[in-house]
Amino acid sequence: MSADTQKKAAAEFALKMVVNGATVGLGTGSTANYFIEAAAAKAKRDKLDTKFVPTSQATYALAQKLGMNLVTIEDAPFIDATVDGCDEFDGSFRLIKGGGGALHREKIVGSSSKFMITICDASKKVETLGAFPLPIEVSKFGVNATAWKIERALVHLGYKDAKMSIRVTKQGMPFITESGNPIIDIRLGKITNAEQLDGILNNTPGVIETGLFIGICGVVIMGTDKGVVELTRA
Ligand code: A5P
Repeated sequence: MSADTQKKAAAEFALKMVVNGATVGLGTGSTANYFIEAAAAKAKRDKLDTKFVPTSQATYALAQKLGMNLVTIEDAPFIDATVDGCDEFDGSFRLIKGGGGALHREKIVGSSSKFMITICDASKKVETLGAFPLPIEVSKFGVNATAWKIERALVHLGYKDAKMSIRVTKQGMPFITESGNPIIDIRLGKITNAEQLDGILNNTPGVIETGLFIGICGVVIMGTDKGVVELTRA
């Protein structure tokens, strides 16, 4: 079964969160897009009064095109469930997100939700986080100074071979998030102390958001060759 088929199956499984009267956060990325399409169809078919909170302009545009009932997080700060993709997840329901650059809004929406549900294909499951480069959203002001501080912190934490790069677009221009900030991607290989790393990064002046989602996701719905698996955090 292809990764796309697995993503789609996971997205459809998560449709149980789309119920009458609920407010549902919509993630960003290819897996989230499958959920948005399926959720729009269900809401229309069953004439549901469900409100949806988008996490990016791309998600907003797709959901609007599909006629979904969209509200902002300002209008709906208490969200019932958010359904979003991930770049990696481990056995402790810790995630790396932000491959698409939407980590800041995704974290605000996900952490404002009673349930943050990650939908993904089987390739996203890892023993140890870190093969996927960890995105760090930073202030444009002082970006090189912030990068230097992060580098020092990584050495202090024992990541001597870490590689850092400021993200660029396919056209080679600096990548800027929807909140107006650059992203530094950090290649760590294996993240052996995710909580400590996240704490130190969050305390570094200039860091706006890390791509580590710790203690936010409670349910993973993963498509596999053998069908959909639902994992729930204890
Ligand atoms: C967006 O910034 C990301 O957090 C995505 O949710 C993540 O990269 C997963 O994307 P895919 O569903 O496209 O793999």
